[in-house]
Amino acid sequence: MSDDRVVHSTATPQQRIHAVQAALEARGMHAADAVEELSHLAQEEWIPRNGARVVARAWVDPAFRQRLLTDGRAAVAELGLSMPNHHRHLVVLENTPTVQNVICCTLCSCTAFTLIGLPPDWYKDLEYRSRVVRESRTVLKEMGLELAADVEVRVWDTTADTRYMVLPVRPANTEGWSEEKLASIVTKDSMIGVSRL
Ligand SMILES: [Fe+2]
Repeated sequence: MSDDRVVHSTATPQQRIHAVQAALEARGMHAADAVEELSHLAQEEWIPRNGARVVARAWVDPAFRQRLLTDGRAAVAELGLSMPNHHRHLVVLENTPTVQNVICCTLCSCTAFTLIGLPPDWYKDLEYRSRVVRESRTVLKEMGLELAADVEVRVWDTTADTRYMVLPVRPANTEGWSEEKLASIVTKDSMIGVSRL
């Protein structure tokens, strides 16, 4: 290497994490505890099972379904489910045989994560964020959801304070199922709107 070249070494992500943590610790802030708490929340508390309970209740209880569609935040609170304060509105989008709602966040990766879980990697990908709004039917087909021509696709762009959740159509042949059994078939993808049940 010639002498007139300046070499900038780049720290690995791991080294950067350690540096930031050390700086926080040095100022009396306990970064490791916060990281641990966050990963506990992400793995144990913010899980799609929460949203699945909401969906199952909406399927069996028409009055609840109506409250859910009117004021999502208040309705999920009835089931003991909370959302961060900055998720000011939960808008629940009801699918029908001829309407497929799909959510995205064109700017970054926002979701109603306390209900449907943290976003999948593909949701955060520029490819999905940019294409689902322009060619939603094609993107859905690539993801394995082929919709009949008479199904209208509605794409909803999440913002910081308005979060969305899709209410999937209840599958046929689930008559008489318990709420718990119904909840067990509801997936994260179906609540994002990229699959049907
Ligand atoms: Fe976002």
